[in-house]
Amino acid sequence: MRRKAVTNFELCFGTPPTVVVRAPGRVNLLGGHTDYNEGYVLPAAIDRAAWLAVAPRDDGYVHIAGWDMNVSRVFRPDCIPAADGDWADYPRGVAWAMMEANLPLGGMNALLTSDVPIGAGLSSSAAVEVAFAQAWQVLYGFELDRTQMALLCQRAESEYVGVHCGVMDQMASVWGRLGHALVLECRSLEVEQVPMPAEATMVVIDTGVRRELASSEYNRRREECERAAELLSANLPHINGLRDVTPQDLMDWEETLPEILRKRARHVVTDNVRVLEAAKALRSGDLHKVGAAMCECHESLRDDYQVSSPELDLVAETAWGVPGCYGARLTGAGFGGCVVALVQEDAVDTLSRQVGRAYAARFRVQPTVTVCRTADGVSAEPA
Ligand code: GLA
Repeated sequence: MRRKAVTNFELCFGTPPTVVVRAPGRVNLLGGHTDYNEGYVLPAAIDRAAWLAVAPRDDGYVHIAGWDMNVSRVFRPDCIPAADGDWADYPRGVAWAMMEANLPLGGMNALLTSDVPIGAGLSSSAAVEVAFAQAWQVLYGFELDRTQMALLCQRAESEYVGVHCGVMDQMASVWGRLGHALVLECRSLEVEQVPMPAEATMVVIDTGVRRELASSEYNRRREECERAAELLSANLPHINGLRDVTPQDLMDWEETLPEILRKRARHVVTDNVRVLEAAKALRSGDLHKVGAAMCECHESLRDDYQVSSPELDLVAETAWGVPGCYGARLTGAGFGGCVVALVQEDAVDTLSRQVGRAYAARFRVQPTVTVCRTADGVSAEPA
């Protein structure tokens, strides 16, 4: 990927790049939709990434060659138009958020290529955002700490692009570490890098299904959580969101919520507990416990949060039955995209075969099965 970015930069712009940036995608092992409720998540950065080859321009213009789509875009950071649903909304959003933060951005030539599948729930958009943020930082000599960079990118996606996402994806892309998963506390933004036991292999199964309505459904879930917290706060005045609601609180007061909100709250409250338990299990290398939590998380996302799909359910449920599979769940926002399974290395082939067979029998297509390794967070080096 690195060579592809450098060579094609020269092809497109006629001169060599000065810097190459890599920003990874992520899988989310646990903590579905808990990040924007200021709760806990357990993602890992993966060896699929957005790559950017860049060089500064002194006329203030940003020229981006989107290699995989064979398209290019031009804009000026000091004159960003409204978002229009185009892929360039991500780099434009990052430029907008950085300008808002008074960072000294300038022009650049950039070649973007990525092997994070788009819309699959592996954070292709966060990878692109973080790659651009890092490129501007290196080219224009300012220094953000990793968490600040993640927050700027989240702001780009939330306020400019209009998907009111949490901060997990951007945090995973900046804080990822080879051989580790991350336990993130999404209120204090504290990060713990926890070693992944060697016997854990992450397998990502892409259903190939992409849902157009995903972003409006996503924003709706977020509003439902906020409403549930608001209603619960009538009896639990100390809470500042669902993150502060304990399972006991919910048992005491769930009758005060309409059914849909009760389900949403139940998912978030139980999932926060699952992440904390699974983090403990991961620290002591107990993959069976982590896997069991992943299965429960999937069921909760399916039944209470209602963001799964028949395709995701079939893949996850088939994976659960494969010997050597610790657990599996939908990863990312849901509504389509991928399932992540945690399996023993020697069970990967069986899992792949059994899931492929069951999926093809029901949906008449093969899912794409990939083994993903953990990876370091964003990095930049001279080209
Ligand atoms: C998307 C969002 C994240 C998170 C997940 C669901 O990936 O970008 O912030 O909310 O969905 O866990």
